[in-house]
Amino acid sequence: MADTAFLRFEGVVAGYGGGDVLKGVDFEVQHGGITCIVGPNGSGKSTLLKTVSGLLRPRQGQVWFKGTPLVGLTPRQILRLGIVQVPQNHSLFREMTVEQNVELGAFLVRDRSRIATRLATIRELFPIVAERAKDKAGSLSGGQQRLVEFARCLMLEPELVVLDEPSMGLDPKTLRSMFDTIKMMNSVGRTVLLVEQNARQGLKMSHHGVVLENGRVRLSGTGSEVLHNPEIAALYLGGSIEAGAPAGA
Ligand SMILES: Nc1ncnc2c1ncn2[C@@H]1O[C@H](COP(=O)(O)OP(=O)(O)OP(=O)(O)O)[C@@H](O)[C@H]1O
Ligand SMILES: [Mg+2]
Repeated sequence: MADTAFLRFEGVVAGYGGGDVLKGVDFEVQHGGITCIVGPNGSGKSTLLKTVSGLLRPRQGQVWFKGTPLVGLTPRQILRLGIVQVPQNHSLFREMTVEQNVELGAFLVRDRSRIATRLATIRELFPIVAERAKDKAGSLSGGQQRLVEFARCLMLEPELVVLDEPSMGLDPKTLRSMFDTIKMMNSVGRTVLLVEQNARQGLKMSHHGVVLENGRVRLSGTGSEVLHNPEIAALYLGGSIEAGAPAGA
């Protein structure tokens, strides 16, 4: 059955050949918002994002994007639909300049003048792209490279930006500017779906929160509902939020 949601996971079961990592994931990402997925290491967060970008094909279930079923499409077809993912690991070409890396983000765009216009916008949003334009990407710090990765993903003017642990390895100051950058990306019209290990800050800036535990959605709601749920504290202290577990114990 077709679906009118912006992005919706429907009974997604997926894994890597062994057992299933995702054991039936259902939730919806609303248009125009920021949705944050949190959960323990190994709970399947990155795996779930891979089912959106087409890097992993679910064994069962469907991922709907504005009525289009994504399962079975190639990563390139999914990119064309306007979904761009920034992976958990660094993905810039270290020997190419910052500007060349950012321009690569528009590889699906043929029109040079459109690329130039977008690049000008990106330079304004991300000053580092202009300041370090001719430097090799590999010469930037980890946090600076992360910003350039974000800049690159915006070159396609995606409708949905998928970010896997954007804050990884950042110092507190860069972390704050990273969260500001995500809010800024959202305010210029991008719907954002992110995974964040830094649960408190991630949920604080998000409209919606989803807790993934052991391949299943254990809780979802507004960012603040999830943040203030006593079971979340238990989960992050190493407990489980199985029914009956002592909340906040
Ligand atoms: N390429 C792969 N091949 C085989 N198993 C994998 C692969 N990638 C992940 N897994 C397994 O799938 C499970 C979920 O991994 P996943 O990367 O989705 O977790 P995660 O929630 O993103 O964790 P983290 O917070 O550490 O990034 C883990 O048990 C992991 O070992
Ligand atoms: Mg991960």
